[in-house]
Amino acid sequence: MRNKILFICSLLLVLFFNAAAQQDSLKKIQVDSSKKGCSDVACHGNLLKQEVVHHPVERGECEKCHQSTGSLHPQANVKGFTLTKQIPALCYKCHDENNVQKHVHSPVQKGLCLECHNPHNSPESNLLVINPESKLCEKCHNLESAKKPVKHEPVVKGECIKCHDPHQSDNARLLNLASPALCLKCHKKQAEEIKLAYVHPPFRDNCLNCHAQHSSSEAKLLNLTPKNLCVYCHDDMKKRMENATVVHGALTDKKGCINCHSPHASAEKKFLVADVNHLCLSCHDRGYPVGTRRIRNIAQAIQNSKNPHAAIYKFSCIACHDPHTSESPDLLNKAFPSTTYTVVKKENFALCFECHKSEMLDKSNAALTSFRNGDVNLHYVHVNGDKGRSCVVCHDPHGTPNDHLIKDNTQFGSWTMPLNYKVIPNGGSCSPGCHAERKYERVAVINPKN
Ligand code: HEC
Ligand code: HEC
Ligand code: HEC
Ligand code: HEC
Ligand code: HEC
Ligand code: HEC
Ligand code: HEC
Ligand code: HEC
Ligand code: HEC
Ligand code: HEC
Ligand code: HEC
Ligand code: HEC
Ligand code: HEC
Repeated sequence: MRNKILFICSLLLVLFFNAAAQQDSLKKIQVDSSKKGCSDVACHGNLLKQEVVHHPVERGECEKCHQSTGSLHPQANVKGFTLTKQIPALCYKCHDENNVQKHVHSPVQKGLCLECHNPHNSPESNLLVINPESKLCEKCHNLESAKKPVKHEPVVKGECIKCHDPHQSDNARLLNLASPALCLKCHKKQAEEIKLAYVHPPFRDNCLNCHAQHSSSEAKLLNLTPKNLCVYCHDDMKKRMENATVVHGALTDKKGCINCHSPHASAEKKFLVADVNHLCLSCHDRGYPVGTRRIRNIAQAIQNSKNPHAAIYKFSCIACHDPHTSESPDLLNKAFPSTTYTVVKKENFALCFECHKSEMLDKSNAALTSFRNGDVNLHYVHVNGDKGRSCVVCHDPHGTPNDHLIKDNTQFGSWTMPLNYKVIPNGGSCSPGCHAERKYERVAVINPKN
């Protein structure tokens, strides 16, 4: 038994030394031959033939990566060489480690460099196994997110690495840069927009708040239709639109909010696409049918005015109108009668009295209005009691061809009644359908309170 063991041990020793000696001599032969001619045309010459040849291969430094197993080479069905190191350690002998940043691409993490690179040569740059713009990434990725009908051009072109690093990144999803910097690299117009005075917070924050990166069912790669997109975040506006009596037609057409707001940024506050007056008049330069009535052309009214209402050019349309929704007709932002006759309380004219003195309606305060005859306050005469007239019986709050915003005509039911207003020295005159020609003159000033 003991002898048997000794015998086996010495046999093993002999075998071991023999093998070591043989390996040594073979290694030498192998190294020498590699220096002369592994890449000889007759042998591995094809390794030098491609467009791009890996630098150590070009220099014939096969042994930097391959070492002999000890078997004679070449020999059918015998593996004559192993790699000097496992991949990726082999590559990291000469290249910086590319698996150290916060996010490492799974095949890089696993050392599968050869899924993408040929170690010797390639017709493609960077020794890639396939052209990166055709199917390199598709080898492993079948992106659901790139299949929707509206596709992002660089994705269609397969330019994945314009946005992703193939190895590693400190940004999530292996992005070269985080959005929005990533997107602004190619989108110069938006790169200018982000410098404007008023920038929409989600635009500054991340383009993906609204856009899809690869493809979308909506135009402009939007995540939602423009109609649903804005109210997804501005849900208070959604509630207002659902509950309000009047919703502005500009909000409910196809473009919706972006009729008036830039989704990105603007030189105007609230990201308006133009200053308020120009914005409103860009549509209200024509009439619009609404139900049975026809909304008149406001731009024309202003253009034909002798003196447009200072409220418009000193303030703007939104001094009186809510651009979105309202509880009252005409989208007015404060109380104002919607009918020709009304119960006169000052609160019912809150819209005008935001800027004008409500005392102009006081019987005893004739001095506070120029619409007076002697000491009779003609504003009070027309606008008092349970059946007073609305201001717009005589005035158009936008503009008219006459002084003092007095209309040419006023509407009584279906009767378009002319006012024939004229300015006379220290007063005025009119001969409307409702009474004979009257005139008023501001003579003595007569305010008992003063
Ligand atoms: C930068 C390292 C590197 C250098 C330098 C290198 N090789 Fe390779 N070689 C590899 C790797 C990696 C493999 C693949 C090994 C595997 O698949 O396990 C390989 C495989 C091979 C194979 C097997 C067949 C094949 O193509 O996959 C041969 C033959 C070969 N190399 C020959 C050479 C010769 C000859 C040289 C010198 C002219 C050389 N190699 C230089 C890394 C290298
Ligand atoms: C998913 C495919 C993929 C894998 C896996 C991959 N690479 Fe790359 N590699 C690329 C692409 C694509 C480029 C070209 C990048 C470019 O043009 O910006 C590249 C470029 C390179 C370059 C040259 C440019 C540079 O970044 O220095 C080296 C070196 C490199 N890879 C090494 C490696 C090593 C080492 C591994 C394994 C640890 C590896 N790669 C794994 C796709 C891959
Ligand atoms: C013995 C050193 C050495 C080893 C090992 C090595 N490389 Fe290289 N590799 C180089 C040198 C040198 C260059 C050329 C200089 C440069 O561009 O950095 C290069 C270039 C590259 C390039 C760019 C090719 C181009 O288009 O110019 C890639 C990709 C690359 N190596 C991948 C690998 C991979 C993958 C491995 C591991 C399988 C590896 N290398 C192992 C030395 C090495
Ligand atoms: C060898 C297979 C393979 C190839 C080739 C490959 N990938 Fe990947 N990639 C994976 C695996 C596996 C994951 C991890 C699982 C997943 O998220 O799908 C991954 C994940 C990713 C991720 C998500 C990372 C994250 O943090 O969620 C991105 C982005 C990516 N790959 C981009 C690319 C790009 C760009 C290319 C082409 C240059 C490419 N991949 C080629 C296998 C591959
Ligand atoms: C224009 C830039 C851009 C291009 C080009 C691009 N991606 Fe992306 N990709 C992104 C962004 C941004 C994200 C991150 C989305 C997120 O954070 O939700 C992403 C996410 C991913 C993801 C993870 C989430 C998902 O959508 O499945 C993978 C995988 C991916 N990209 C692979 C690719 C591949 C493969 C290509 C080429 C066919 C490609 N990408 C082209 C910008 C791009
Ligand atoms: C590599 C360059 C590049 C990068 C990076 C890039 N894009 Fe694009 N993008 C394009 C090109 C090219 C087009 C098509 C031409 C155009 O409309 O400008 C396009 C088109 C678009 C469109 C308009 C689509 C249409 O139907 O009109 C949107 C929206 C868009 N990109 C958003 C983004 C977002 C968001 C990002 C960042 C996640 C981004 N892009 C990153 C190149 C790029
Ligand atoms: C709040 C949502 C939102 C955000 C955030 C956003 N966009 Fe947009 N983007 C839109 C809408 C809505 C449109 C469509 C505008 C139109 O049709 O007039 C659009 C259109 C575009 C277009 C096409 C422009 C054209 O003239 O056709 C590009 C490119 C674009 N966005 C890039 C970006 C970039 C880059 C970012 C990030 C810096 C970004 N977007 C962030 C909502 C957004
Ligand atoms: C991803 C969420 C998001 C989306 C989508 C979004 N917004 Fe915003 N928006 C914000 C945030 C956050 C603010 C700043 C906080 C605030 O004022 O409510 C803001 C502010 C605004 C403001 C200025 C509000 C103020 O009081 O100063 C306007 C106007 C605006 N957004 C319009 C839009 C329009 C139009 C769209 C659709 C194109 C849109 N938003 C889509 C998040 C969003
Ligand atoms: C007809 C033009 C127009 C349309 C359409 C429009 N807005 Fe506005 N929006 C404005 C104006 C004008 C302002 C007020 C700016 C100011 O106060 O200086 C404004 C202000 C805002 C504000 C600031 C807070 C507030 O209520 O005043 C938000 C938020 C807003 N809009 C969101 C939206 C959303 C969401 C939509 C689509 C549902 C939309 N807007 C459609 C013209 C419009
Ligand atoms: C994109 C075109 C567009 C813009 C810009 C626009 N409007 Fe309008 N507006 C309409 C349309 C269409 C209607 C008629 C449909 C409706 O409102 O029901 C209308 C109706 C109105 C009405 C009457 C509402 C009613 O039903 O009595 C007022 C008042 C009004 N707009 C004021 C404004 C003001 C103020 C602005 C600027 C902040 C503005 N509009 C900007 C398209 C626009
Ligand atoms: C001083 C307050 C005030 C200002 C400022 C003002 N409006 Fe008006 N607007 C009204 C009142 C009151 C009505 C309802 C009575 C009427 O139709 O005259 C009205 C009605 C309208 C109507 C509906 C007209 C119709 O025929 O039904 C539109 C459209 C309109 N305004 C647009 C504008 C636009 C556009 C601006 C800015 C250029 C503007 N308004 C500025 C007070 C104002
Ligand atoms: C945002 C402020 C503002 C609002 C609201 C406002 N106005 Fe004015 N209005 C002015 C200014 C400013 C003037 C010019 C200075 C002055 O005469 O007081 C003016 C002048 C007038 C004039 C005198 C024109 C003249 O030549 O004598 C009339 C009439 C008038 N407004 C009617 C109205 C009516 C009716 C309303 C309510 C529908 C109204 N205003 C609401 C600011 C406003
Ligand atoms: C019966 C026609 C009529 C009605 C109704 C009327 N006004 Fe006047 N208003 C005038 C006339 C005429 C003037 C011009 C007085 C002058 O300067 O000669 C005037 C002038 C004004 C002025 C300029 C300052 C002043 O008091 O002289 C304002 C402001 C004004 N009106 C606002 C209103 C408001 C607000 C209402 C509704 C509460 C209203 N008006 C109702 C006819 C009317």
